[in-house]
Amino acid sequence: MHLIGVLGYGVLGWLSVGLWGEGVGVSLGLEAAFFLGLALVVGLFPVRLPGRGGAITTVGFAVDYACLLILGPAVAAWVGVVSFAVLLRRSPRVRQFFNQGQVVLSFAGAGWVYQGLGGEYVRSGGGPVAFGKLPVALVLCGVAFFGISSLLIATAMALWERRSVLGMWGVSFRWAAPRNLALAPFGLLMAMAYQAPGLGLGAVVLSLVPLVGARFAFQGAMEMLEVHRETVYALSNALEAYDPYTRNHSEVVTRYALSLGRELELSAAQLEALEWAGRLHDIGKCRQDWEPIIRKPGRPSSQEWEVIRQHPVEGSQLAEEMEFLPHTAGVVAKIVRAHHERLDGSGYPDGQAGEGICLEARILGVADAFEAMTAQRAYHQQRPPEAALEELRRCAGSQFDPRVVAAMERLWEQEELEVEAPLAQEAGELVGAGRVSAEGKA
Ligand SMILES: [Fe+2]
Repeated sequence: MHLIGVLGYGVLGWLSVGLWGEGVGVSLGLEAAFFLGLALVVGLFPVRLPGRGGAITTVGFAVDYACLLILGPAVAAWVGVVSFAVLLRRSPRVRQFFNQGQVVLSFAGAGWVYQGLGGEYVRSGGGPVAFGKLPVALVLCGVAFFGISSLLIATAMALWERRSVLGMWGVSFRWAAPRNLALAPFGLLMAMAYQAPGLGLGAVVLSLVPLVGARFAFQGAMEMLEVHRETVYALSNALEAYDPYTRNHSEVVTRYALSLGRELELSAAQLEALEWAGRLHDIGKCRQDWEPIIRKPGRPSSQEWEVIRQHPVEGSQLAEEMEFLPHTAGVVAKIVRAHHERLDGSGYPDGQAGEGICLEARILGVADAFEAMTAQRAYHQQRPPEAALEELRRCAGSQFDPRVVAAMERLWEQEELEVEAPLAQEAGELVGAGRVSAEGKA
């Protein structure tokens, strides 16, 4: 991380020498201050993404892109360095230093690509820039800026968490790439407005209107998604609450599944679908006419099992009707439907096998089984996590995906799997079960 900071400041020095040679005037300083103000406003009012552990996003890419196209990489890099100094003033110095380094390298790299493809900056003074004739340079400039910045951040995160860089990039940035690149036209609009005769920065302010509109529309969509998430969570909690033997089941299964998904380097979009599927996977059991079967103490009869085995179908149909879910080809419904499939094809409801079962469903299957074994149920005794892992290992290759089971073992070894029986307190009173917690494994 220090290396990126040092490299960045080295490149900033080199860019500054070139800038000094071209002459630095008051008007350039004012314009830089204008973009610095914009960068700070954008950074101080991020959009919070639902779920994702408090992740945020901004429309800063549009401002950075406009700043680069108008003022060039040297001034844009200074704006980036100062804005990070302000925005990250309470963060550790190493984080500030790294981010300042990466933003300089991103601007320098993007500028190098842009100029290499014939691009010019508005402030260079050679007359209005014919952006219409530079489509390739403009696109690749945006791609280079996002690519360098995201790769440097992913590298730092990968070193920190000892994971592969590409895997980390996939998890953290693949989903963000289209959204960021879609902001580039707003930046281009700002640059085009800036060079409109007699308007200058006033036109840039006007061209911010659609960007501000896009930001608030996005925030509205995110808030709506959060409301849906909370509704589904409340619904699944309420449906499970009536039965002390399934209380918190979907919540704990979802937690295990997401840990597994992250361990297996799923993308953020896959993790999102997995989260919804985890919360909804058993929602199909909630048919009123099935209640006596579900609630019946003891092992269900073979006819009752036949009914219960239909719950993935019922659940996937319900998920299919939830229009707000991440619905790429009904992915949540697909995961819900396949969560009881087995690798050897002996599962239900469709008897899918191997890779024919989507990875998210294979993950959910392992998480579901692990939770079921380590929690107290009406028809079997709670097992210690080590015994549950042994059972997963025994069934790896036939019932479970060995890669997912191996990931489960790694999580357990790294003490990243907080195992606690959902019935810890209440079942203790009911059936004498004790709490099984991570600290118990030593
Ligand atoms: Fe299930």
